[in-house]
Amino acid sequence: MEVAEAIKARKSVRGFLDKPVAKELIEKVLQLAVRAPSAMNTQPWEFYVLAGDVLDAVRKENVEWLRASAPPQPDHLVVGWPKDSVYRRRQVDLAKQLFSAMGIEREDKEARAAWLERGFRYFDAPAAILVLTDRCLTDAGPLMDLGAMLQTLCLAATGLGLGTCIEDQGVMYPDILRKIAGVPEDKRIMMSVAIGWPDPDFPANKIEIPRVPASEITTWFGFDTRE
Ligand SMILES: Cc1cc2nc3c(=O)[nH]c(=O)nc-3n(C[C@H](O)[C@H](O)[C@H](O)COP(=O)(O)O)c2cc1C
Repeated sequence: MEVAEAIKARKSVRGFLDKPVAKELIEKVLQLAVRAPSAMNTQPWEFYVLAGDVLDAVRKENVEWLRASAPPQPDHLVVGWPKDSVYRRRQVDLAKQLFSAMGIEREDKEARAAWLERGFRYFDAPAAILVLTDRCLTDAGPLMDLGAMLQTLCLAATGLGLGTCIEDQGVMYPDILRKIAGVPEDKRIMMSVAIGWPDPDFPANKIEIPRVPASEITTWFGFDTRE
């Protein structure tokens, strides 16, 4: 797959076929992901890949904690969006698009809660990748590097026909992941990625999330405007 084609084809996948992904394939994805650039070549990433009983145990406990309204305690800094900002508006627009695709009414609290739980179940993907970084690194330090690696990972997966969803929801309860998957205390669990074979019929997989065109957010200097 050509690079531009893969970039355009990648999208967040929130519904997967009930079909496992071979370990070798995820290994291939991770081998490509670690080709990402990082500041001073620090490569501040590590992976825990969960599937089978271990992943099911995490899903179960995540949902139990969520239902018990356990406060999320992610290992990473929590990003906030000012209430009246364009960022908050885009977040609301995304939710509207997803709920509309899934036929979830605004007032339907049960359906909304069920959708939220899906996220905490890694969208029932056959595998989930946890992205870890070393606790000795500063809070913000490795974020750029992890972002570059995550996009590389998702593109590599796309190239192999796999679907991904980068997921903050999957790392809201790091204590569960530490207990079940044995993630050590000296590692921060920064992000998760649900990965599997995309279900083409799953409604939320069909939405296209719009982007502000680059032309609207780019300021140019020193270019001749003539062709
Ligand atoms: C850091 C990060 C965290 C995300 N966390 C979630 C999440 O918890 N749940 C979810 O459904 N999508 C999550 N997403 C996916 C975004 O909603 C998605 O990338 C965005 O809406 C653009 O849509 P697209 O990926 O389909 O192009 C996350 C994406 C990023 C980069």
